[in-house]
Amino acid sequence: MGNNLLKGKRGIIFGALNDMSIAWKVAERCVEEGATVTLSNTALAIRMGTTTELSEKLNAKLIPADATSVEDLEKVFAESMEALGGKVDFILHSIGMSPNVRKKRPYDDLDYGLLNQTLDISAISFHKMLQVAKKMDAINDWGSVIALSYGAAQRTMYGYNDMADAKAMLESVARSFGYIYGRSQNVRINTISQSPTVTTAGSGIKGFDSLVDFSDRMSPLGNATAAECADYCVVMFSDLTKKVTMQNLYHDGGYSSMGMSFRAMEQYIKSFEGLTDEQGNIIYG
Ligand SMILES: NC(=O)c1ccc[n+]([C@@H]2O[C@H](COP(=O)([O-])OP(=O)(O)OC[C@H]3O[C@@H](n4cnc5c(N)ncnc54)[C@H](O)[C@@H]3O)[C@@H](O)[C@H]2O)c1
Repeated sequence: MGNNLLKGKRGIIFGALNDMSIAWKVAERCVEEGATVTLSNTALAIRMGTTTELSEKLNAKLIPADATSVEDLEKVFAESMEALGGKVDFILHSIGMSPNVRKKRPYDDLDYGLLNQTLDISAISFHKMLQVAKKMDAINDWGSVIALSYGAAQRTMYGYNDMADAKAMLESVARSFGYIYGRSQNVRINTISQSPTVTTAGSGIKGFDSLVDFSDRMSPLGNATAAECADYCVVMFSDLTKKVTMQNLYHDGGYSSMGMSFRAMEQYIKSFEGLTDEQGNIIYG
């Protein structure tokens, strides 16, 4: 049930691949709250995934675009403004991919050509999106832009690889552009740092199931789901958060503020049982 939080607002949702995608849930929730949206993804993703289904369900125009191409992004904004009948009020950047992760290149043996692609797809595309929007004057005053990030931007997570560098850059773009776009048109720009979530992109990370389980147990409120992330995005797109900008907003059940939980400590000690020296002292290192 919606509360008309986005009544009359227009938005663009990038990155819905299938019904597990965070962007899919966000698009559905935005429409439920009274918004009209357009959807965008790469031509390949549209062929491989089920975005067309979502576009039919939400009566939302689907615009193929590679988010690393400025030309493609110009097309997305032009066609969105035409389809929606004016400038947009909100944008979701829900795009991430690391060819190094895909090709199983570890962080100390990165292919630099692939690193450039990781950064271009997962972070620089956000800058391109904002620069194109600003040049085309495609966002209404007091509009809201969100990109999805992850806590590996601040703390090293096993297996997250060069995506950590991309997320750090993504969050920096939100701050740098947030200043410029905020000053000129009151457009707010934030990142939401989401719990590990079972999706196509998420599942590409090495040891992902253990990561999901560990953070779920470590967070006092448990992992945030994709549907809960969609709720948070709706609030951030609504007029209830007009002065929130240039922030990295943790949406992780409290995980980012935890050091050690009782349960984790108990488990940690248990895992060393039997690992004692001749005197019966536990060997820790
Ligand atoms: N799943 C998680 O655990 C998790 C946690 C925190 C943040 N995030 C972030 O959430 C966002 C969405 O990911 P998801 O988990 O919903 O997975 P997903 O695989 O459903 O979405 C990733 C999307 O990126 C799109 N994409 C890839 N390359 C592109 C390009 N060149 N141009 C345009 N689109 C492109 C894909 O087609 C796909 O739709 C990503 O930024 C991801 O890093 C995910």
